[in-house]
Amino acid sequence: MPVLKIEALTKSFGPNIAVNKVTFAVEKPAMIGIIGRSGAGKSTLLRMLNRLTDASSGRIVFEGRDVSALKGAEKRAWQSQCAMIFQQFNLVPRMDVVSNVLHGTLNRRSTLATMFNLFPDSDIHRAIEILDRLGIAEHAPKRAEALSGGQQQRVAIARALMQDPKIILADEPIASLDPMNAQIVMDTLRRIHEEDGRMVIANLHTLDTARRYCDRVIGMLAGRVVFDGTPEQLTTGVARDIYGADASFSEESTSTAIETLDRERLRAIHAAEAAI
Ligand SMILES: Nc1ncnc2c1ncn2[C@@H]1O[C@H](COP(=O)(O)OP(=O)(O)OP(=O)(O)O)[C@@H](O)[C@H]1O
Ligand SMILES: [Mg+2]
Repeated sequence: MPVLKIEALTKSFGPNIAVNKVTFAVEKPAMIGIIGRSGAGKSTLLRMLNRLTDASSGRIVFEGRDVSALKGAEKRAWQSQCAMIFQQFNLVPRMDVVSNVLHGTLNRRSTLATMFNLFPDSDIHRAIEILDRLGIAEHAPKRAEALSGGQQQRVAIARALMQDPKIILADEPIASLDPMNAQIVMDTLRRIHEEDGRMVIANLHTLDTARRYCDRVIGMLAGRVVFDGTPEQLTTGVARDIYGADASFSEESTSTAIETLDRERLRAIHAAEAAI
């Protein structure tokens, strides 16, 4: 039985069909990249998976259970099992890093405890452990806004991990980052997938990132899945079909240039960061 089954998932906004009968199954937790030009329906698909948006039709079946019709507490429980990460991090800028991470437990906390920022010690310890695992524990007391973009995205990942999710949904997690930070964040997501066995589904705006980090790539065009295969099968010709055969397409324009980063330099920067 597949872990996740998406069956003819469709979302219409008036006459516009944003996601059109998308169907795929994930046999075992994998790292999946979703690519496609702007407006292809990538974000809408992720938002439906997380139930931020209701589907117009179709089903989402996770571990044999239809999660597309859940309501109330059951819907919230599903939402905490598939944590979302966004391009703009969505942290509370003036709040400290640990509190931002602790907000990942909001789904199971009472309103009153949340209002007064009352978190059990065990949660605080766990938050710091997660920050430590992601290499940013030393920033725990700082305001989120004082961190670099790459560090803020790692805080957002830590907040997601606080929910102990089975799936991490990432909507263009590196689109606002420079190549070095993009690499750190993608390495982090890959590690979480490999070490914890969590499924990662990431919308990615660049081909090279999808090829390099994902086990499987799904290409969308005008709401439909037009490619579903391995990075090796994602040739330049296939990519041209996904992005449309317009003259503006080139490998370069869809590249983050992560490849060009020098590993040694990156290690030096990691070491310097850890020493602060
Ligand atoms: N809330 C909404 N109301 C109306 N139309 C919407 C809404 N959200 C998305 N759409 C439309 O649905 C289509 C798919 O949008 P979506 O944001 O999913 O694309 P995307 O692949 O994520 O694009 P991008 O790469 O620019 O983020 C677009 O035509 C968009 O205009
Ligand atoms: Mg989008």
